[in-house]
Amino acid sequence: MDILFLSPGYPAEMPLFVRGLADVGARVWGVGDQAKEALPEEARKALAAYLPVKDLWDEEATIASVLNWLGGRKPDKVECLWEPGMILAAKLRERLGVAGMTVAQTIPLRDKSVMKARLEAAGVRVPRHGRATNEAELRAHAARIGFPLIVKPVAGAGSDDTYEVRDDRELDAVLAKTRHVPEVVVEEYIEGEEHTYDTVCAGGEVLFENVGWYRPKPLVAKLNHWISAQAACLKDIDADAPRKGRELGRKAMAALGVVDGFTHMEWFLTAKGEAVFGEIGGRPPGSRLVHVMNYSCDADLFRAWAEATVRGRLSRPIAKKYNAVVVFKRAHGPGGRIRAHEGLDRLLARHGEHVATLELTPVGGARADWKKSQVGDGWIVVRHPDLSRALELADEFGSELRIVAG
Ligand SMILES: Nc1ncnc2c1ncn2[C@@H]1O[C@H](COP(=O)(O)OP(=O)(O)O)[C@@H](O)[C@H]1O
Ligand SMILES: [Mg+2]
Repeated sequence: MDILFLSPGYPAEMPLFVRGLADVGARVWGVGDQAKEALPEEARKALAAYLPVKDLWDEEATIASVLNWLGGRKPDKVECLWEPGMILAAKLRERLGVAGMTVAQTIPLRDKSVMKARLEAAGVRVPRHGRATNEAELRAHAARIGFPLIVKPVAGAGSDDTYEVRDDRELDAVLAKTRHVPEVVVEEYIEGEEHTYDTVCAGGEVLFENVGWYRPKPLVAKLNHWISAQAACLKDIDADAPRKGRELGRKAMAALGVVDGFTHMEWFLTAKGEAVFGEIGGRPPGSRLVHVMNYSCDADLFRAWAEATVRGRLSRPIAKKYNAVVVFKRAHGPGGRIRAHEGLDRLLARHGEHVATLELTPVGGARADWKKSQVGDGWIVVRHPDLSRALELADEFGSELRIVAG
């Protein structure tokens, strides 16, 4: 099977998916905006061919280069596992006559307002919402929906330009701050815990599913530097709360016609126990969450996705063994270089057996921009079959490990 894969070298997880495809026997033709020499070795080794383009997001130019490069050859599939490239992948499928998600099917996965309208029509509980391109529209939606509200870009990512609005004064401030965003969604603010529902599918069948739990909500972590954000991949997804998310997710996927590949949904669990839809992508989650799923199952979901894509099934079932929790660290102190990992030796001596992986920016390395990078200055995965124990371990790494910059 020949697979055209967009952006095989970036973000960080992509080379692992490309390797998975090659491992299960596919020939992978990569197209990306990195020079061939700049591709991570894993991707370079797994690719059968690579076309570097100047600007991947100049869609018409990229499509023309790809058609010219292929010279009449046709891949069996076109894959992109990175949010900004989903529409480009759909356009390429249409131009090449390759089966898979079309542009019309992809838009509801990219546009948060179309997505919610579609799901609302299918009876899925979504926040009340509206879209706005100017101040008058934004104020009209705010008046209709009522405070508290969320204002965010129609096609956002990583909580960028996303704001909570609790009163008129905050509304004025957010209007000023979002002036550069061409189109925003205004939404009822859902109070509650935030979760994920992630799947690997083939031919409409869910082959693997995961429920994750963000601690705290991504928006809160995005706005507060002191927080070491966590995401837990739960072991017991049959418990009451995860089951509600799974049911919501299945309904959302059916309504949007998502039948193949990775999906990543976010949803809220309110204090009353109601599951409310947040958003869904036809792609894997970023921020190392596929790794965390792997540690919760002792599996390789990069390869499992490839098996689903190439063969339509998994070679072996994947089951949960642990609650695996990732903790993201942000450096404290002035300066742009990492100076110390305070508390690390003590934590490892105490809990080393429960640490599945640990990748910290080494001492002397450059500090990350915490506003831009979700992974920040390092990440640790701890795991335990007992959820409360797993969370305790994660909290210890959150509070007692200090990455010092100077
Ligand atoms: N309606 C909402 N109610 C409460 N919190 C929200 C709502 N919409 C977004 N958020 C918060 O903002 C974050 C980012 O919004 P989201 O729709 O997931 O966009 P993206 O992840 O693409 O930036 C969410 O993870 C959540 O913490
Ligand atoms: Mg999100």
